[in-house]
Order: sequence, then C-alpha cells, then structure tokens
Amino acid sequence: MAAYTARAHTNIALLKYWGKADAQLILPTTTSISLTLNEFYTETTVEFDEQLPHDQIILNGRVLKAHERQKIERFLDLVRQLAGIKTYARMVSINHVPTAAGLASSASAFAALAGAASAAAHMSLDPSDLSRLARQGSGSASRSIFGGFVQWDRGTDSNNSVAHSLKDPVDWPIQLITVIVSDQPKAVDSRSGMQNAFSNSPYYQAWVQHTNNSVPAMQAAIANYDLDTLGRLAEQNALEMHAQNMVANPPFNYLTDTSWGLIKMVQTLREQGLSVYATMDAGPNVKIISRPQDTEAIMTQLQQTYPDLKTQIATPGPGIQIWEEV
Ligand code: PMV
Repeated sequence: MAAYTARAHTNIALLKYWGKADAQLILPTTTSISLTLNEFYTETTVEFDEQLPHDQIILNGRVLKAHERQKIERFLDLVRQLAGIKTYARMVSINHVPTAAGLASSASAFAALAGAASAAAHMSLDPSDLSRLARQGSGSASRSIFGGFVQWDRGTDSNNSVAHSLKDPVDWPIQLITVIVSDQPKAVDSRSGMQNAFSNSPYYQAWVQHTNNSVPAMQAAIANYDLDTLGRLAEQNALEMHAQNMVANPPFNYLTDTSWGLIKMVQTLREQGLSVYATMDAGPNVKIISRPQDTEAIMTQLQQTYPDLKTQIATPGPGIQIWEEV
C-alpha cells in the first residue's frame, strides 16, 4: 500500500477545551475557538505493510519502544477498524514544534497522524471527518485540521463534536509571542489536569457556562477584526481555566512566579495603551496575543524585566496538507 504524508500545524486556544463530557469519545464540555500557527507543525508519513509484525513508530529519528507506542497504536487500531484492515503500519514523524518553543505538540501530531494514516488506509475523508478522527487522538487535534481561526463545537455525539473554519486565511495582523518560562515536560499532563478540574473544582460548571456563553462574542471579535475584544475574552478565559486548577481538591497549578510576573507585565503594558493580552495552557509559558507593529515595544519591556527568557513569534497558519509519497 502506498505511503502518505501529512503536515498539520499546532493551534492555540483562545476559548479553551478543559474537560470531557465523554472521556471515551473525547466530547468536550465547552466549545473552543483557536488560531492555527504557521511556524510550528508536525510532518508524519504512514504506510501499511503486510510484512510488519507490529506497528513501527519512529519519532524524531528514534524508534519507539513497546510501552511508548501505546497511545499511537490505539489510534492506528481505530483507523484499521474504520478502514476494515488488519495490517500494521510504519509511521515516521518529525515534530517541527521544538520542545524549546514550550508549545504542546499533541494537536499537530494527532492531526497529522489522522491525515496520513487515513489516506494510507485508502479512506478518503473530508476535513470534517478528519477532524472527528483527530479528536479521538487528542481533543485539540480536531482543530488543527483547519487553518486560521477555528471553532470546535462541543456537540453531543461523535458526529457533531467537530471543528470547522471561522476565518482562513487570516487577513488581519495578529501574532503570538510565546515566552518560554520552562521547556521541561509538565508535571501534570492535560488529560489528568482537566479530569481533576472537572471532578474536583467547585466552580467548574460556572467555567463551562461562561466559556460557552463567550462563543458568540469571540466569533464577533474575529469577524470584526477586534483584537481588544478577542484578547480580553482570551485572557479571561485562560485565567478562569487556571483558576479551576487552583481551587480543585487537591489543588494544582501550572503557573509559576515568572508566569504571574509576565501576566502582570502584559496587564501593565495594556494600561499604558498597548493591545496585548496573555493566554496560558497546561504549562507555565505565557503567550502574548498582540499586533506585529507592537513587537518592538513588547520585546523591549521583556528584555528589561526578563532578560534571560527566550521568545518565539508565531503567526496564523494553514490547515492540513496531505500527499502521496512517490
Ligand atoms: O488536546 P489536549 O488533550 O492536549 O488538551 C489541550 C488542552 C489545552 O491546550 C489546555 C486547551 C486547548 O483547548 O487546547
């Protein structure tokens, strides 16, 4: 069978997914909205081969051992089940999401795997079907099938819990400055973090309701090129997500003193008149939503306050691309 390669980009959630209504199917409690990023992506090649005694998985040049392959094998099992085949696969994946960028790569990784594996298994899935499939590898991967601004409807079943494009290409100046507070693997992965918040935060339902109620305003901000409304909603949504973790029982926290210092810095820059807003995911890094024209002012302040921290700038990126290897 022919080998297919897919390239999928990471995305950053402006309204976040943080908890599952159905853990088996990965149906989220909230509708989320994201921006796909150009600079960071995963490229994955898959080929089903009758000769293989088990799935062979090579990640960034390293052959994964049996215990490291489990999550990917489970996903390939799902593809085999859908395609009605039993053949094992060879998967070669390269992450162009440097660990040092402090961005999670699971979104781009499972989106690329969904694209390459389904094409290699001769299933011709449209983008919505790809999104549904990618969702079952990692929730946020459902959004990485599309470029630009993307919405993942929480839905009520596997069919209607799916992402779609809100605006692609993005024809307005928006960027994300990622400030790397730590490039170490996180202590609490997103799966257990969101499960803990879901089960043990007394304010969890309020967060779900507020996130879902914010969807129309976020859509309007995107349609109206309104960076200030977009940023204000995104920053509040991120802080609300982290608040769930801090009041969970037992409590946990992804943000360090440096993260809080950066959030304060962003808020102070805003008081001085800049359109800058912060968002944070399941880790301590702070992403500054801003306009390219303000990069210099932001970098100057960062240099003064945190001269040792590295930064990476990301801009809006495209949806998945899939091609046959010849
Ligand atoms: O897709 P997962 O299971 O890695 O979860 C992603 C969770 C956040 O990044 C914190 C929020 C989001 O919507 O991407």
